[in-house]
Amino acid sequence: MALILISISYTKSCCFPSEVEVTAMGYGLIAQGKTNYQKEIQLYYDADEEKIAIVSTNRIGQKLRIISDYSAKKRYVITNENVCNVTDLNEPFQEMCVPTNAVFVGSAVLGNSYDNITVDNYYVTMSQRNMSFDINLMATPMKGDDCTVEGMVSFGKDKNGYQIFETSVYMNYSFKITDNSVFLPPKQCNQPDNMGILLFDVLEEIRSGILIF
Ligand SMILES: *[C@@H]1O[C@H](CO)[C@@H](O)[C@H](O)[C@H]1NC(C)=O
Ligand SMILES: *[C@@H]1O[C@H](CO)[C@@H](O)[C@H](O)[C@H]1NC(C)=O
Ligand SMILES: *[C@@H]1O[C@H](CO)[C@@H](O)[C@H](O)[C@H]1NC(C)=O
Ligand SMILES: *[C@@H]1O[C@H](CO)[C@@H](O)[C@H](O)[C@H]1NC(C)=O
Repeated sequence: MALILISISYTKSCCFPSEVEVTAMGYGLIAQGKTNYQKEIQLYYDADEEKIAIVSTNRIGQKLRIISDYSAKKRYVITNENVCNVTDLNEPFQEMCVPTNAVFVGSAVLGNSYDNITVDNYYVTMSQRNMSFDINLMATPMKGDDCTVEGMVSFGKDKNGYQIFETSVYMNYSFKITDNSVFLPPKQCNQPDNMGILLFDVLEEIRSGILIF
């Protein structure tokens, strides 16, 4: 189970700035088994370097770091900083954007009289990995075509009746990667023998929980 992170992409409408660090908090419900979850992740995004790292914990509380290095065409799934699975990553890098087919449904001001922020609300449907999603999201414009996403409510389903609801909130944005080592795989990732012991768990978690990238 994981945070639904839609790599909202496609042609531009407004996109993340080129460097982003953000904490995302997801609260979700998976209809089957009535499982609910709460998940915090750190997202590191560098569009110029074409790298994305996600730091979180897996089901059994171990640190999970997933590095998608699109320029090197590799993805590293690192559990506990010592078990590494390296796979080829052949998809092209896509910027994180509010898709152009998102329907603008109006703006609103969040907060009180001190730090009001204006958010633009969008509705979009999209398909990813055989699931279709209905998404309501709040984005805040920045200079240029940039924007950040502040919150998202998602409903996903597939043909087999799998359904997931999730509300996520994005906090503490910064627009500079303070520590680039987050994109560096540990040396274990170069040692073919030390691979994948816990991997099934991790991959299963990603597949079923939809950590989409
Ligand atoms: C914030 O919103 C409140 C309520 O709409 C409004 O009275 C106030 O002027 C706003 N403050 C700023 C700084 O925009
Ligand atoms: C998606 O669905 C198609 C057809 O229903 C199937 O062939 C394909 O294997 C599915 N892909 C995944 C990732 O489940
Ligand atoms: C967000 O930033 C504040 C202030 O720096 C910090 O106290 C808080 O722990 C951060 N929250 C998260 C979830 O990272
Ligand atoms: C690494 O992950 C891939 C799927 O992404 C999987 O097919 C492969 O078996 C894994 N390698 C090991 C050694 O577990």
